[in-house]
Amino acid sequence: MSGPLKVPLLIFTGFIIAQVLNRTNLVSQITFFLRASKTALSPGDDREKRLLDHVVSTTPAGDAFAVVQAIDDYAWSKEWFMNVGDQKGKILDEAVHNASKSTPGPLSVLELGTYCAYSAIRTIAHAPKGTHLYTLEVVEKTADIAERMIAHAGLQQQITVLRGPLEDLIHQDPLRSLPPFDVVFIDHNKRYYVSDLKLLMKAGKLREGSVVVGDNLLIPGVPEYIEYMNSPEGKEAFDTAFHDAKLEYTWAPTSWGFADQVGVSVFKGPTSMS
Ligand SMILES: C[S@@+](CC[C@H](N)C(=O)[O-])C[C@H]1O[C@@H](n2cnc3c(N)ncnc32)[C@H](O)[C@@H]1O
Repeated sequence: MSGPLKVPLLIFTGFIIAQVLNRTNLVSQITFFLRASKTALSPGDDREKRLLDHVVSTTPAGDAFAVVQAIDDYAWSKEWFMNVGDQKGKILDEAVHNASKSTPGPLSVLELGTYCAYSAIRTIAHAPKGTHLYTLEVVEKTADIAERMIAHAGLQQQITVLRGPLEDLIHQDPLRSLPPFDVVFIDHNKRYYVSDLKLLMKAGKLREGSVVVGDNLLIPGVPEYIEYMNSPEGKEAFDTAFHDAKLEYTWAPTSWGFADQVGVSVFKGPTSMS
């Protein structure tokens, strides 16, 4: 096979196989394929830069809520982005709110997967004053966009972008010397959800009551994270609630198959296995 159809067909086949193996929803996988392949087939696509330009030109500097709203408006009306989005974002807001009820004062938050800093800015906007969020991003160009978005929102003092994977940064300051986090948002490469969670537990970066939020459990899907949280080992370490949600920036009812899931897990404290 040759020509422009080769790449999308290969990706499509991969998604169908993944769907069968993961036993996740076919329509969801196809939707994700269409959106992901559109991005993959646009070499040099500068959508993140276009988003930044839109936000900077339409919102006042220093207004975090306006930045979040402008990103959502753009993603709904112009181009799709893999931000947690306004719908699943409410689940994240609530998890942060609940964490602040049990931990009075500023929170310490860790995020895996910065992208354009939508969720980082959203989290700080909904967290108690003085909260600090450390966010990890492996793509330099994306981290640059995120830092500019954060600067425009006026949150440079509250959000620190760290460049690199957790397995490297956990052994370096600031992560090495920070106390356990109150909230952890896992939203990066699906392959590392469970291993990075275990890394955090092993390094003592979770304490009893820490809240761990995991996005995209059904689209593109992280079956091993769901399996871990439902396993005896996972249940000994965490109390988890799985929240049904829609894929970001899609309007169709979840009954049509556009279903995603966000996990909210409360750490019970170190176990014999952690
Ligand atoms: C789904 S996006 C994050 C969206 C963001 N949390 C939001 O809601 O606005 C995933 C991001 O994780 C980054 N990423 C991929 N693997 C990573 C890793 N091992 N560590 C940190 N970031 C990673 C990707 O480059 C991408 O920017």
